[in-house]
Amino acid sequence: MPTLETIVDGLRLPNPFVIASGPPGTNGNVIGRAFDEGWGAVVCKTLSLDASKVINVQPRYARLRARTSNEIIGWENIELISDRSFEVWEEELKAVKDKYPDRILIASIMEEYNKDAWFEIVERTQDLGVDALELNFSCPHGLPERKMGSAMGEDPELLEEVSGWVMEAATVPVWAKMTPNVTHIEDPTRAALRAGCQGISAINTIRSVLGVDLETLRPEPTVEGYTTAGGYSSRAILPIALRMVMEIAQVLRDEFPDRSLSGIGGVETAEDATQMLLLGADTVQVCTAVMKSGYGIVRPMIDDLLSFMEKHNFETLEDFKGHSLQYFSTHAELVERQAAARAEAKAQRDLKAVDTDDQWRGEDFVEQSDALSRG
Ligand SMILES: Cc1cc2nc3c(=O)[nH]c(=O)nc-3n(C[C@H](O)[C@H](O)[C@H](O)COP(=O)(O)O)c2cc1C
Repeated sequence: MPTLETIVDGLRLPNPFVIASGPPGTNGNVIGRAFDEGWGAVVCKTLSLDASKVINVQPRYARLRARTSNEIIGWENIELISDRSFEVWEEELKAVKDKYPDRILIASIMEEYNKDAWFEIVERTQDLGVDALELNFSCPHGLPERKMGSAMGEDPELLEEVSGWVMEAATVPVWAKMTPNVTHIEDPTRAALRAGCQGISAINTIRSVLGVDLETLRPEPTVEGYTTAGGYSSRAILPIALRMVMEIAQVLRDEFPDRSLSGIGGVETAEDATQMLLLGADTVQVCTAVMKSGYGIVRPMIDDLLSFMEKHNFETLEDFKGHSLQYFSTHAELVERQAAARAEAKAQRDLKAVDTDDQWRGEDFVEQSDALSRG
């Protein structure tokens, strides 16, 4: 019987399915719900020391539907980090940890470019008993105006410096969450790992404009007639997330083999999550699918991942983690492989050819007869 239990950076998870930072982990009540439904870990909504600067607008989501089925396939948000005070969060995270001592609770944190502020948020958060920290270097809207979030994630030098501050103060594992809004995600990845972060989480949302209303001529989501570019998530981003997970996993495999990877982006089913694991993720995070379909989606995810493992005779996640990475190559090598395969096929055909009677061969006699026959 296979097991989904896994140990990542010393944290023991009953399964690799993790609630990603966002509305599904936005207060103690919903975090408890996630644990009750069976999620392996929860990353809470991103906290900062001074929530009074966080002012959200409505509407703050816009959704893209498939043309034929009406299914929601893309989701843009212009939501900021948590607007709840740090003191309220302190109480709630402590209460969650008291109620679920064996479950993995990860605090997502973000601060401005200020060493003292980062020291303070790391120390106060880990003192609550959370199991790990996730550094939000990746929110693409609103916060970059204050040089936070993806303003740091897009600048590897800055990211390395801030990660270094965090690692000076941290006593629990630290994951750095990457923005996809960069040309080469390997660069900020290496910066975080050089600074000593134990893991990488990727990806956050992709900077987007969901669309323009053809009646009002206003872009969506429209707030008092105006909008700002937001972050794109949901099923539509899975292929981009898989590509970035693959690129990060190669960096880990080749340069930082003892670090971990949490794959995020567009995961809705065990099938999606399994692909993240095959490309090198240790855990898989989910946000928008929970907003679309509820916390219960983890149950079929657990059952279907176990069935996949049974079918392939895998006992543990380690048995297939990163298995499919070996099948990535360069385009030039694909051309070489194809030329070699075609040459080999031709050689086999030539071997069976009978142009003159002295080419008949005992061991291929039937195939040679077939090759000369019609019908
Ligand atoms: C409404 C919404 C709010 C989010 N808030 C945060 C946040 O506070 N911190 C963070 O690190 N990521 C946040 N995210 C990003 C998600 O954690 C995740 O990286 C992204 O949505 C891609 O995964 P998904 O397709 O499963 O949603 C948010 C996403 C959504 C849709």
